[in-house]
Amino acid sequence: MDHTQESTPLLDALRRYRERDYTPFHTPGHKRGKGASDGAREVLGAAFLDVDVALAGGVEDTRESAGLLGAAEALAAAAWGAERCFFLVNGSTSGVHSLVLTLAGPQDYVIVPRNSHKSLLAALIFSGAMPQYVEPAIDPEWGIPLNISNKKAAAALAARPDAKAFFVTSPTYNGFGADLEHLAGATHAAGVPLIVDQAWGPHLRFCSKLPIDAMSAGADAAVTSVHKLISGVTQSSVLLARGERLSLHRLESIVRMTQSTSPQMPILASIDAARAQMATQGEALWSQAVELAEWARGQIDDIAGLRCVGDECLQKEGVYSFDRTRLTVTGCSLGHSGYALESILRNDYSIAVEAADPLNIVLNVTYGDSMDDLRTLVAALRDYAARYRDAGQAAQSCAGLLIKLPAFTRQAMTPREAFFGASEALPVAACAGRVSAEIVTPYPPGIPVLGPGEEVSDETVAYLAEAARRRLHVHGPEDLTLQKLRVVKESRKRRRA
Ligand SMILES: Cc1ncc(COP(=O)(O)O)c(C=O)c1O
Repeated sequence: MDHTQESTPLLDALRRYRERDYTPFHTPGHKRGKGASDGAREVLGAAFLDVDVALAGGVEDTRESAGLLGAAEALAAAAWGAERCFFLVNGSTSGVHSLVLTLAGPQDYVIVPRNSHKSLLAALIFSGAMPQYVEPAIDPEWGIPLNISNKKAAAALAARPDAKAFFVTSPTYNGFGADLEHLAGATHAAGVPLIVDQAWGPHLRFCSKLPIDAMSAGADAAVTSVHKLISGVTQSSVLLARGERLSLHRLESIVRMTQSTSPQMPILASIDAARAQMATQGEALWSQAVELAEWARGQIDDIAGLRCVGDECLQKEGVYSFDRTRLTVTGCSLGHSGYALESILRNDYSIAVEAADPLNIVLNVTYGDSMDDLRTLVAALRDYAARYRDAGQAAQSCAGLLIKLPAFTRQAMTPREAFFGASEALPVAACAGRVSAEIVTPYPPGIPVLGPGEEVSDETVAYLAEAARRRLHVHGPEDLTLQKLRVVKESRKRRRA
């Protein structure tokens, strides 16, 4: 088999399967679309259903499928600078789960940023590990988390020299990179593996105009969502690792536990194709995307009433690099929350954004966009701003929409103990001094105000009451209106030093 970066073993196998026109006596039950409903055929397309097959379900002889995957993963490992690569069909979420389960068991400490994706907290519940949080600063103006400063990282390592892993999210949702090379040096000096949640950085390694990627910076492992910013289909992701400080054998067996036993070939083949595309054309494609994003940022900044996060972020705490292809835009001074701006763009201009929070919208720019797409966006924003300036909307300060997050109290027990133990739902006002059994993450800033196992303070109660009054968008708790909170039953409350 050809092993250059142009080759695509999984994509080629799928093409061969389609061309041989096999009669399928294997999964899935729609049998290459023949049994699909008319609606499914119309919306999903006959071409997709024709190749919707699992890796070990007919693409190759049963015994040969594993070889195909191994060849594709080896090419991806080389492209992303890792010793091993595992293709994931359940997103970076499943990669984060696999890494925590590999590195930390019950009662082990792991250092984790407070702004981690919820997959990391879930993984702590699964494994029984104990978090030592590092708190990134929150930008007071934009209401979004920045990143972990080297100073805070050093303090966390000093507090927990026995930590089994140091996790960092880089880049963040808004494109803010931590000082990964420094963090690799510091964690390795302490004998702790550095694990990077690089869900938002599958492209970094392939273009010199983008921040340094995790594996180049010396990380021991990283997860990176192929579907988020490069051309893998939804849910495609890769886990990258090197074996100096973690067992690749154990990692492999745990990855196999967290993945479907019927990985969908179109997802796997799309990772193969995206890797080949990046390895051979990444520099040119992403240089073009950076240029488009920079053009759009300049245009949007020139529209009265609108603003984009730009290079000034590099002066802020914990921000050592910035992915300029991420556009965070606010229309607060035109009187609109991020949610309102999202709806206006969707309803009036047929533009769909990546995400919205009370202050901002976030837009992804990739090499899949053309200059015409960016012109459409800028024209829509210009028109929107003119309409609402003329309508004389009251100017609104973004800062006024933010509530100061309460300080982290203490972790009274592991997230797993709190999550699985006996608990009760109490009015929030009665919860001070109790231990939370659930996660509460208000947006903004998307940082948990409580995780399972954390003590609830008076300050937390006051925060939750204010968040309820303002009807903040919240993820995690059973009662999304924040009238009640689920806490650990008193008899189970255990104190930790
Ligand atoms: C920082 C971070 N990590 C992990 C994930 C999970 O990635 P996926 O959607 O590929 O499972 C996300 C998703 O948004 C994320 O933002």
